[in-house]
Amino acid sequence: MDLMENVISLAKRRGFVFPGSEIYGGLANSYEYGPLGVELKRNIMDAWWQMFVHERTDMVGLDSSIILHPAVWRASGHVASFADALIDCRGCQLRTRADHLIEDFLKERGENPAVEGKSAEELDKLIQGGRIPCPNCAKFDWTPVRHFNLLFETKIGIVPEDQSTAYLRGETAQGIFISFKNIVDSSRVRLPFGVAQLGKSFRNEITKGNFIFRTLEFEQGEIEYFFDPAEQSWEKIFDSWKQAMQRFVVKTLGINEKNLRWRTHPDEERSFYSKRTEDLEYNYPFGYKELWGLAYRTDYDLKQHQKMSGADLSMLDPISGRRVLPHVIEPAVGINRLFLMVLIDAYDEGDDGKNGKRTILKLKPTLAPYKAAVFPLLANKQPLVEAARAIYDELKKSINVAWDDRGNIGKRYFAQDEIGTPWCVTVDFQTLEDQTVTIRDRDTMKQERVPISELASFLNKKISA
Ligand code: GAP
Repeated sequence: MDLMENVISLAKRRGFVFPGSEIYGGLANSYEYGPLGVELKRNIMDAWWQMFVHERTDMVGLDSSIILHPAVWRASGHVASFADALIDCRGCQLRTRADHLIEDFLKERGENPAVEGKSAEELDKLIQGGRIPCPNCAKFDWTPVRHFNLLFETKIGIVPEDQSTAYLRGETAQGIFISFKNIVDSSRVRLPFGVAQLGKSFRNEITKGNFIFRTLEFEQGEIEYFFDPAEQSWEKIFDSWKQAMQRFVVKTLGINEKNLRWRTHPDEERSFYSKRTEDLEYNYPFGYKELWGLAYRTDYDLKQHQKMSGADLSMLDPISGRRVLPHVIEPAVGINRLFLMVLIDAYDEGDDGKNGKRTILKLKPTLAPYKAAVFPLLANKQPLVEAARAIYDELKKSINVAWDDRGNIGKRYFAQDEIGTPWCVTVDFQTLEDQTVTIRDRDTMKQERVPISELASFLNKKISA
C-alpha cells in the first residue's frame, strides 16, 4: 500500500489528481484532474480512439447525450435492477456494500470469498452466519441488506409542477443502442461493425476509497460490436476483442503484462442477458481488480429497445436479403481505471547517481503530459534564456513542452522525472557557439548533444519509436 500512498501523494503534489471540492471539506468519491492529469487522461483517450476507431475499417464513433429519454433506462433494465446491496451499522451508522463487507472479512481470514451475484437474502445469511462485525466500530448490529439504485436522478423542467424525472447515464452503451438505426441509415456500415463512444457516466456508488478506482462520475470508453450470429462466430469475435484489449494495455499503454490476468464471470455473477463475460484485471496495490469488461450481450438491448420504442431496429443483409437483429459484443472500460493503472505501473524510485533517490514516472512518451522540458542552464544569463525561449516557442507548435528556469539543473531534471517528462533539453554556453543542445534521457539519465535544427525531428522520432 506504500506504492498507493506514494502515487496518491505524487498525483496531488504535482497536479495530476486533486481530492474533489477540497476547499469545502471534500466530496466523497469525486476528484478533479489537474493540469497534468487532464493531459494524461486526454492522451489515454486519444490513444484509445486512435486504435479502436481511426485505425480500423469496421468502427465508427458516436457522442450521445448524458441525459437520455427516461424510457431508455426502463427498457435497458437499469431502473429496475441497476443496484448495489447496502447495509447499515446501527452502532455507528456506517453504510457499506454488503459484498465488500463479506469480502474484506473473509480475505483477512485467508479465505477466498465468492459473493458476486448473491441475493440480498444470501448476503444477509453470510453476514449473520459469520457474525461479521462492523469494520468501523466493531459492533455486530446490522440493518437487513437493502438494494439501492445506482442511477443518478435529475429533473427536467424548471417549474416544479411540470418537472419530470430523468437520469444521468449509468453507462455510455445505451446511447449507442438508441442511435443504432440512425447510424445504420446514415453511414455505410456493414455487419460486423462496431460503434465506439467515450464520455462521462454517473453512478451513485459507495466505495472503499481506493482513490479514483470507483467514483461517482467517470469517463467510460465503450464499444458495441454488432454482428450476425448466423454468419459470424461469437467465440471468434470475443477472442479477437480479448487480444485487442490486451494489446492496447501492453503495447499502447506500456503496462507490464505480468500485472494482468483474465477472469471469467461464473454463472451467478454474470448478467442474465450475457452469454459470457470476462474481465481483464490489473494487479492494483489493493489486489487484482476489474480494469476492462468484455461481455457478449446477445441481442438483448436492441430487442428491448425495439419492443419498448416500437422502432424496427433490424438491418438488411444485402447479400442474403434477410433482415437481421444484430447481436453485440461489448468491451467496456473506465478511462480513470486505465489512468490509475498507468500511474501505478509507471511509478518507480531509483538512484539519482549521487547516492540519493529520485522518483521517476516511466510513462510511455506518447502518454507523458510533457514530451520534453526546455531549460536555460542559468536563469540570469540573458543570451541563454533567449536561445532557450526560442527553442521552447518553436517546439510548442508541434508538441507539449515544459519550461523551467528555477533552481539548479539537477533539481529541474528530478522535477521532470517525477512527472514523466521523457527528455530535458538544456541550452548552455556551447549552444551559443555551435547551435547544439544537451538532451538528457529520463530513464537512463544519459546525455547527448543534438543540433537545434534537428531537435524537433529527433524528439518526434523518439516519441513515436
Ligand atoms: N456497459 C457495460 C458496463 O458499463 P460495467 O462493468 O458496469 O459495464 C464497465 O462498467 C467499466 O467501467 C468497468 O470495467 C470499469 O472500468 C468502469 N467503471 C464502472 N464503474 C465505475 C466507477 N464507479 N468508477 C470508475 N470506473 C468505473
